Amino acid sequence: MPALKDLVHLSYCSQAQSRIGQLDLDRILEASQRNNQRDDITGLLTFSGEVFVQFLEGPPEALRQLMYRLQGDPRHSDIIILSEGLEHTRILPGWDMELVTRKEAHQVLREALREADTYAKVIGLSRLLARLDPDLHRAS
Ligand SMILES: Cc1cc2nc3c(=O)[nH]c(=O)nc-3n(C[C@H](O)[C@H](O)[C@H](O)COP(=O)(O)O)c2cc1C
Repeated sequence: MPALKDLVHLSYCSQAQSRIGQLDLDRILEASQRNNQRDDITGLLTFSGEVFVQFLEGPPEALRQLMYRLQGDPRHSDIIILSEGLEHTRILPGWDMELVTRKEAHQVLREALREADTYAKVIGLSRLLARLDPDLHRAS
């Protein structure tokens, strides 16, 4: 069994660059699946048309390096870390990186809002939820 310090999780949301298209998404997923398999990282990515939410889990050093690459990626900006911490077990073993739907993205953000522990996170997440899909937000 791996030591506790060998597995961490991290989730974040970010603002997609305004002209992002299907080709960009395909390229992101292709690079993600290739690199994450190599780096022992698993997780999921949601995309609303404006907002990315990504959940990642893996060895701390591999995640640190990935976050460094993500910070410099012009296809998104305004990264907000939603949660991070040590884990005992992987939630998504075998998921190199999967893209899930807008509705699922909404659910992930609402869950994070319920668990937000700072005022800045509550404000940031509320804004993102409103941007993500105003009708869905009012209905739920
Ligand atoms: C929203 C978003 C999510 C991404 N997720 C990952 C990821 O899970 N793994 C990864 O290696 N790259 C991911 N990338 C791409 C990285 O920013 C970077 O372009 C890539 O890791 C470079 O890989 P390469 O040197 O093999 O081309 C993501 C980019 C964006 C915009």
